[in-house]
Amino acid sequence: QGAEQAASALLDWYDRVRRPFPWRETTDPYKIWISEVMLQQTQTSRAADYYLRWTGLFPTAEALARAPEEDVLKAWEGLGYYGRARNLRAAAKVIADTLGRKLPESYEELLALPGVGPYTAGAVASIAFGLPVPAVDANGKRVFSRLLDLGCPVDRSAGEGAVREAFSLMLPRDRPGDFNQAVMELGATLCVPRSPKCGECPLSGVCRARERGTALLRPVFSRR
Ligand code: ADE
Ligand code: SF4
Repeated sequence: QGAEQAASALLDWYDRVRRPFPWRETTDPYKIWISEVMLQQTQTSRAADYYLRWTGLFPTAEALARAPEEDVLKAWEGLGYYGRARNLRAAAKVIADTLGRKLPESYEELLALPGVGPYTAGAVASIAFGLPVPAVDANGKRVFSRLLDLGCPVDRSAGEGAVREAFSLMLPRDRPGDFNQAVMELGATLCVPRSPKCGECPLSGVCRARERGTALLRPVFSRR
């Protein structure tokens, strides 16, 4: 079974089980960006509350850029890492003042915004703009380190590179945003750290760790 069939099996599974989060009901790049930044540090259920309140208060990048900083920090209260909220507002100013009030539509331009790293740029590029870019978070690293039965640490460049390469190889050109979210969903619900539910997993047929009984040993982290 090849990468293409595996991707189809994963997407079919995702279509059946996907949870209806509010950021999955929009195609607005601004809102998808906000959701992805919140989700980097917050569980999905809590992030949903914050997302709905935030997008009510600041419905566009322009509105966020023009809002007083104290209002923005207040809306972030409880999420921690206030630098993220400051960066969101700083990026919104760039978008409002120099980019024609719209989020840029390429991975590289997204990456150039304050506070936007490879994960966020990949998530927005794929989910909002349909670009074939991977968005690999901790869940994605766990899933792919198990698929590959990767013995080298995923927090070092060799392991990271191996994960990214396998991920990119499986990423379908026609549904990259759904694929990225399907991997996150798999890591959040079935391919969980301590008791992976391999019996229900759409990728069990191509999973080396499952075959070798090593799932609980993956991923490996360097002891830095
Ligand atoms: N975690 C990060 N991005 C997510 C998304 N789009 N859906 C669910 N969980 C996520
Ligand atoms: Fe994870 Fe098990 Fe699926 Fe492999 S078969 S990807 S270890 S849930």
